Amino acid sequence: MFNIFVTSRIADSALKMLQEIGNVVVWEREKTLNGQALLNKVKDKDAILTMVNNNVTDEILKNSPNLKIVANCGVGFNNIDIAAAERHGFVVTNTPDVLTEATADLTWALILGIARRVVEGDTFVREGKFTGWLPHLFIGNMVYGKKLGIIGMGRIGSAVAERALGFHMEVVYFNRNRLSKERERELQVQYMDKEQLLRESDFITIHAPLTEETYHLIGRDELKLMKKDAYLINTSRGPLVDEMALYEHLKSGNIAGAALDVYEHEPKIVDGLLQLKNTILLPHIGSATHETRTQMAELAAKNIVNVLTGKNPMTPVTKGWRK
Ligand code: DGY
Repeated sequence: MFNIFVTSRIADSALKMLQEIGNVVVWEREKTLNGQALLNKVKDKDAILTMVNNNVTDEILKNSPNLKIVANCGVGFNNIDIAAAERHGFVVTNTPDVLTEATADLTWALILGIARRVVEGDTFVREGKFTGWLPHLFIGNMVYGKKLGIIGMGRIGSAVAERALGFHMEVVYFNRNRLSKERERELQVQYMDKEQLLRESDFITIHAPLTEETYHLIGRDELKLMKKDAYLINTSRGPLVDEMALYEHLKSGNIAGAALDVYEHEPKIVDGLLQLKNTILLPHIGSATHETRTQMAELAAKNIVNVLTGKNPMTPVTKGWRK
């Protein structure tokens, strides 16, 4: 029997898959395990199923001699030291595809929510301030027919673009690699360099992974290029945006608003952002639907089952994994 550690409660169906091949210990508490506490739990395990807020460091990897696989329950894996995992010969896997549509849906909830002041309106009603229809109450901006700028045109960026067709938007994108002409035609999107996209778009939404190259992809200089009535949406990773610079631009009205699901120093948030009305702030719930979280956990579990039983992982992110 294998020893498997799961850092958070997961769907029963996924847990069952793991229990069929091993002894499974699940961390049931809300407090996220990290550092020495995480090491203490995983050091004698054959496999760990982690969440995106468990930092799997070199220290943890090199002190876990039985470990064969770290299955991250998330498409992003910037919480894992991949270079160290490759050095030690461990497999690291993620959960791509299964969360694409849920994350694209939430991105759209944010686009619509920030433009039409949905959260502000809701708060107003709950506070008992709605005393009757007024022509100037919560005037927002149109989404229909506007220009959407997508930074990062992978699976999620593309799913966001598909939805924009229904809103008759002009969609421009910036990506490390340009899509094929055929794919651009299919999605009805136009490639643009980042600066021009920032200058022209009414809504800018970020869907790139966090890497050394994408850290502060949207910093002070980039924010300066945005139109005064433009919105920034981020459902990818917080550190892609310089949060302090964003706060300053929002406060001084240099841009119209921001809708964020992720933060630079998660779960901490730059203090001033909480006081601003032209923001929507969500607690990193891009993939949080019943269906998606179940599929993510099942895919992570399947990766563990495969690796421990000598088969290939379904979705490895490390090169040269050990079978
Ligand atoms: C991911 O998959 O990377 C998400 O951020 C977690 O929901």
